[in-house]
Amino acid sequence: MAMIELHNIHKQFGSLEVLKGVDLTVDAGNTVVIIGPSGSGKTTLLRCMNLLEFPTQGTLRLGDYTLEFQPGTRVKKDTLIAFRKQTGMVFQGYNLFPHMTALQNVMEGQVTVLKRSKEEARDKALRMLDKVGLKDRADAYPHQLSGGQQQRVGIARAMAMDPKVLLFDEPTSALDPELVGDVLEVMKELANEGMTMVVVTHEMNFAREVADKVVFVDHGVVAEQGPPEHIFEETTNERILQFLNKLRH
Ligand SMILES: Nc1ncnc2c1ncn2[C@@H]1O[C@H](COP(=O)(O)OP(=O)(O)O)[C@@H](O)[C@H]1O
Ligand SMILES: [Mg+2]
Repeated sequence: MAMIELHNIHKQFGSLEVLKGVDLTVDAGNTVVIIGPSGSGKTTLLRCMNLLEFPTQGTLRLGDYTLEFQPGTRVKKDTLIAFRKQTGMVFQGYNLFPHMTALQNVMEGQVTVLKRSKEEARDKALRMLDKVGLKDRADAYPHQLSGGQQQRVGIARAMAMDPKVLLFDEPTSALDPELVGDVLEVMKELANEGMTMVVVTHEMNFAREVADKVVFVDHGVVAEQGPPEHIFEETTNERILQFLNKLRH
């Protein structure tokens, strides 16, 4: 059963058409890795999936909600909130509140958006911090944590909202190389536990090892998709070969 279905998704910023008819399916429990050159529309695609951006055309289904878009389509606030609650997003820059501890960061959305009691939120936050290996740093402020630790707090924060889907936008690309592994390890664990994840990344080893499907986005369309073996070993698509070759250097 598909958790996410995009059909003919377009996104235009003014006269710039960034997404030009994307079709994409993400099955429940799968990890889909999106790769592609800079500027090809990966971030925009991810942002359309949780309605941080509204598609200008196309159909988007995520979990329980199906939305049809035309230019100027508006979404009712209640629907928007309910739709977004189904997703958790992990950004490249960790976007933690600097004046809040790790624990408070992971509690915040639970209390303000999900209206959980402080006690319940704290309990959940501690469990999620434990899951990402940071229970003992619960009282640290972001500036007292490494980039990798901050990103793991970001993942804990997203998970604490009990999303149906986790969306990751280049979660390790701002990190020093020695900190990347811990973050990928946490993501791998989530994938193994059956979390549904869409991950934009340049970490090809992660894609090979963890992805159920790899999607190559180029110039605003899905140029090719398939199991990692196909994309990394069998494809004859020049653009993919070029892209992978560039990454190696
Ligand atoms: N809010 C925006 N307004 C105008 N143009 C945008 C906006 N967001 C992205 N773009 C443009 O859309 C194109 C694709 O961007 P993006 O989705 O960030 O690509 P990627 O993540 O693959 O690097 C780029 O040309 C970018 O400048
Ligand atoms: Mg991007």
